[in-house]
Amino acid sequence: MNILAVETSCDDTSFAIGSYEKGCFSLRANLVSSQTETHSPYGGVVPNLSAREHLKRFVPLLAAALADAKCKLAQIDAVAATAGPGLIPSLLVGTAIAKTISFYRNIPLVPIHHIEGHIYSNWLSVPAEEKLSKFIEFPVLALVVSGGHTQLIYMKGHLNYKIIGETLDDACGEAFDKVAKMLDLGYPGGPIIAKLAKKGNPSAFNFPRPMMNSGNLSFSFSGLKTAVLYAVKKEQRKQSEKKQLSENFINDVAASFQEAAIDILLDKTLKAITKKRPSSLLVAGGVSANMHLRQSFAAKLPQTVIVPQLKYTGDNAAMLLPAACLRLERHGAHGYAQSWKTVAAAADMPLPISKKLPTIAE
Ligand code: KG4
Ligand code: ZN
Repeated sequence: MNILAVETSCDDTSFAIGSYEKGCFSLRANLVSSQTETHSPYGGVVPNLSAREHLKRFVPLLAAALADAKCKLAQIDAVAATAGPGLIPSLLVGTAIAKTISFYRNIPLVPIHHIEGHIYSNWLSVPAEEKLSKFIEFPVLALVVSGGHTQLIYMKGHLNYKIIGETLDDACGEAFDKVAKMLDLGYPGGPIIAKLAKKGNPSAFNFPRPMMNSGNLSFSFSGLKTAVLYAVKKEQRKQSEKKQLSENFINDVAASFQEAAIDILLDKTLKAITKKRPSSLLVAGGVSANMHLRQSFAAKLPQTVIVPQLKYTGDNAAMLLPAACLRLERHGAHGYAQSWKTVAAAADMPLPISKKLPTIAE
């Protein structure tokens, strides 16, 4: 079975094609067209511009993905698309593309939740000869850290999600982006902060770690972000004649902020491990590209940390495919795979809580 995946939840247009045969998965193509250059002058993603860019880019990108996979549209057996959450103008483009293909080819359309996609980016490392469903041992604890989400999710089995902790205000990636903006470093902020942090002193500023002693698994990043803002304003007042923040100051703020953000993630993940004792721990989402996060988690957590390959940390269509394959596998029994008639994009979408979807019998 050949599956085409479409991802347009934010500012990346992406198509991927994978094959699923006898429970084994292989990725045949994954192309991502990033709109960073379009949005960076605005310091963030402009939703309508993003939709327009998806529309401009999708036909050549789809053609290139099919060529990469050496596959014709006529050989696609199912299509998957990110249905939400995300920017609605952007989601509407991707779901409209997927619906059109589903209608034209009369094939199933599998809606995928964006966070579900990020979680399943970890299954893209499955060896070709290994069963996809057996690749990572359950129960799983997943830390999803992206520009829109910071969540700890417990999974008893495939496609079965329970959110056990999440941010009460900003997402972790959003805090990276906002701190970068305060320092006038450009967008997206995460990779820039991570790069400058290498040259800074992580103890230069003792930024707060909000909610660390809250006794629950909730996160908060807005107090940390405000503390950085105060430090920047104070420095700007001191430097008023020069107007420019020094390189040293910027590097130290980047390193101290990153240290605080990762401390918060570490602390809550450790508490969740103690509480839930998962067999596997995984991290996903754009912020999981952060090397300092990867190193700190590997050094300080009591169990192996599974991370996606770097190319699958940001938004991409390949990450929809493992979940789509597993959903299609139980299509007959549970009717979850849908058609162009039923799938609707939604900016806010709860993670599918799959009481209706029994886990695969292992
Ligand atoms: O998952 P993603 O590509 O899109 C969303 O679903 O939001 O995540 C994007 C976020 C941005 O906030 C970006 O600044 C952050 O991931 N990010 C990073 C790094 N690379 C991307 N944050 C910290 N360190 C990085 N290396
Ligand atoms: Zn994402």
